[in-house]
Order: sequence, then structure tokens, then C-alpha cells
Amino acid sequence: MNANPPVANTSVAILAAGLGTRMRSKRAKVLHRAGGLALAEHVVAAARAIAPPDRIVVVTGHQAEDVEALLRPSGVSFVRQDPPKGTGHAVECCRELLENVPGLLMILYGDTPLLSAATLQQLREAQERSDAAATLITTTLDDPSGYGRVIVDEHGNVEAIVEHKDCMPEQREIRIINSGIYCFKAELLWRHLGDVQPNPISGEFYLTDMAVIFRRNGHSVRALHIEDSSALLGINTRVELAEADRLLRHRKAQELMLAGVTIEHPETVAIDASVSIGTDTVIEPGVRLLGHTHIGEDCRIGAGAIVESSVIEDGAAVGPYTVISNSRIEKGAQAGPFSRLRPGAHMGPGSHVGNFVELKNTYLGAGSKSQHLTYLGDAKIGAGTNIGAGTITCNYDGERKYETKIGDRAFVGSHSTIVAPVEIGDDTYIGAGSVITEGVPPGALALGRGQQVNKPGWVEKRRQKTKQKKSSSANE
Ligand code: UD1
Ligand code: CA
Repeated sequence: MNANPPVANTSVAILAAGLGTRMRSKRAKVLHRAGGLALAEHVVAAARAIAPPDRIVVVTGHQAEDVEALLRPSGVSFVRQDPPKGTGHAVECCRELLENVPGLLMILYGDTPLLSAATLQQLREAQERSDAAATLITTTLDDPSGYGRVIVDEHGNVEAIVEHKDCMPEQREIRIINSGIYCFKAELLWRHLGDVQPNPISGEFYLTDMAVIFRRNGHSVRALHIEDSSALLGINTRVELAEADRLLRHRKAQELMLAGVTIEHPETVAIDASVSIGTDTVIEPGVRLLGHTHIGEDCRIGAGAIVESSVIEDGAAVGPYTVISNSRIEKGAQAGPFSRLRPGAHMGPGSHVGNFVELKNTYLGAGSKSQHLTYLGDAKIGAGTNIGAGTITCNYDGERKYETKIGDRAFVGSHSTIVAPVEIGDDTYIGAGSVITEGVPPGALALGRGQQVNKPGWVEKRRQKTKQKKSSSANE
């Protein structure tokens, strides 16, 4: 036996099968993203803090393959609900998997991305303390429209949950709503779930009918009222999606600032949940940090920069309006303003790239520089090398990609055209404007351009000729 067993035997079912008609989208609602993750990913993350993955079941339906592919890495199980016939029916679909699992069964909806593990723990503790058949989380909203209203008696027991559409005019005035987060005694849920009847208007089976069904069978249902309603937001429309995104971004920025990151105008910055940032790094306004991006200490990320799934090491600086994806910038290196690092760009320590420089699948060695108007693709560049303005590696012949190698301490003159595959050795000079099609041995100067010809007095002669032509045509 485990010396520290989990607090209680808790399983979790997450309902994620609905299309979400009110999103007006071709994509299933739970795949829409807020705060850098799909809605369902947020809910799974909260659930994983209270139950091991093999006790989490996700109900999928609309775009089931996509939803399952997204969540599979977390180790949860899936059941299909085909076609979706309401939240009660969605739970019914879990019967085969969960009916014989004793203990508590928590039911969550896949469209509540702000839900925290702490809230779920609180719910579980409340249910463990009570003898009710179930506990559900309620909150009070200024504008409760769209939510199920919770009718509570004078003892705090839930009498009924009435869906917005089914409310009598006076019930619409009720501002206590059902968050859609429940903790059931599993055995009682399975015993009575079959009693849910289809809603006379929509034909759907509502899980919320369980409140009345339990009461009818002599069991009580308790409400756990939570003041901070923002954490319970259920997303039905894109307006609510934007609000959830804002709240998640705000939460992430607060966390980072309290941990020692300076964020200027945090309301303009978007940082995904999976991003980490070291202390004393400064994030300027309008920055977007996405995916699994890691930024070290003492970095500066300039205004309007976009960094996706990249590593930026300590003391590096990213100038304004620089776009970086799947790349690595080592200690003290500087990129931007206006640089573009495409997948596979790797800047060595202390290297620099400047405005309108694009790197793709390219390593730029320690202390090397490429400051202006340059494309470096499929290139390996050594240390202490200078790449002049307007240099292009011609890595593509229309069919295949080829590699360029440039050694240490090379000096590539401005406007050089380097036709790959080619290797330029250490300590080389490339004359400005060269087209390099052959390898350059170490220590050599390479000139690959037409010879300049000066014709003394040419301009004066030309002017004289023009003058003569004009006067002869005037005399005709
Ligand atoms: C539901 C509740 C409502 C509550 C609100 C909180 C019901 C009947 N109503 O309403 O009382 O105030 O949530 O946000 O439960 N789903 C399935 N299969 C289905 C239908 C839905 O898996 O057949 C999933 C959806 O993908 C979604 C979740 O269940 O993640 C909730 O469904 P939704 O249609 O958004 O319910 P609401 O109308 O918001
Ligand atoms: Ca909803």
C-alpha cells in the first residue's frame, strides 16, 4: 500500500463533446484557445492536480479525433458520445468505464478554462464533509443570462437547477448560477442517472436534472458558493473567449511580475501559460511570448517582438518588432530590431543580427555579426565572422536545399551572393559584391565580380555629342 494515499478516491469526467453552437465556428468549442492553450487543456490541467490521469475520462464527440489527439499526451482516457444528446447523456456514456469505480466522481465541463486546482480541492473537501449525494459550485453573477439558475432552500440545500431557456420570468431574476462543476457520490449518481428524461423543448438529457431526482429519492444536494465568479466563467461565445483569454493573460503576467520579471504595460502583453522567464528580465509593451518559450535572466524583449517556442538565454536582447520561432539565442546575443529568426536559427553567445536579417536553419557562431538586410539559410557560420549588409546565401535551386559553411574570423563583403553548396574557410575575405560559386581556402581573398573599367573624359564627350545632335535637328 502507498504510505500517502490520495485524499479520497476521486475520478473525474470532463464533458467535451459539444460543438458549441453559440461560438458560430466549424471547430469544436473546446479546441478554441485562450491563454495559449485549448479550453479543454486548461480543464485537464486542473483535473490532473486532483486525480491521476488514469482516473480522468474525457467525453468527446464533435471533432473527437482532434480533441483526443490534443489531450492524449496527458494520459487521460476517452469515451465517445455520438451524437451528443446533452450533459446528462455525456455522463451516461462514461458508465461502462466508471460505474464500478467507488468513491467520488467529479464532473467538469470542458469549456471552463479558468478553473483552478485549488477550487476543485475545495469542492472535494466540501463533499467529503457532507452527507449529501452531491455538491456543486455556485456563484452570483450580475448578468446570469445563459447559465442554469440554482434554487436553494432555507437550509442551503439545492432544490433545483433551471436552465436559462426553461426559466419562468421570476426565475430569470435569480442571480445564483450553476458553474457546471460537481462532485458526486459515484455510486448514487450511477444508481439514479438513468432517471433523467429528455428536456421537452430541446430533447437533450440535462445533468442538472439530477438535483430534483436526488431530492425525490431522499438525498440532498449542497451548494458550495464561491465569491470570485471570474474563475468559473463558462465559454459559450467568442466574446467570453476573449474575456477568458484576457483573464488568463492577466493571471500569467501577475505571476511573472511577482516572481521578479518587469513587464511594461502588462495589459498589452500576451504570454502563454507554458512560458518561463528569469528574474530581472524586462518585457516591453506589445510583446507576444508563445508556446514553450524559455527566457533567461537579465534579458530585454523589445516592444512588439513575437517569440514562439524558443530559448533565449541569460543577458540576451531581442530588439523591437523581431519575430522568432523555434530558435535559440545564447547568452548575451542580440537580435533586432526588425530581425526574423525562422525555425532552426541558432545564435551563438554574444552574436548579433540586425534589421531585416533573416536566419533559417542557420548557426551563427560566437561573437559573429550580421547587421543589415541579409538572408542566411542552411548555413553554419563560425566565430568572430562578419557578414556584410545585403549578403544572401542561395540555398535553394528550385528543387533542393544546400548548405553554406563559413569559417571563423571571415569577412564577407557587402552584397555578396553565396551559391550553395559552398565552403568558405577561416580567416577569409570576400570582396563586396562577389558571387561566390566555388570554395574559398583559408586565408584567401575571393573576388567574384566583373572588373571595373574607368573611361576618362567620357561624360564630357557624350554631352558634346548630344549638343551636336540637337543643333543639327533644329537646322532641318
Ligand atoms: C451548462 C449547464 C448550466 C450551467 C453552465 C455552466 C446543463 C444542462 N447546463 O449549460 O446549468 O450554468 O453549463 O457553464 O448542463 N457537452 C457534452 N455533450 C453534450 C452537451 C455538452 O460533452 O451532449 C459538453 C460541452 O462540450 C461543454 C459542456 O458539456 O464543454 C457544457 O455544455 P454547454 O452546452 O456549454 O452547456 P451550457 O448551456 O453552458
Ligand atoms: Ca457552457
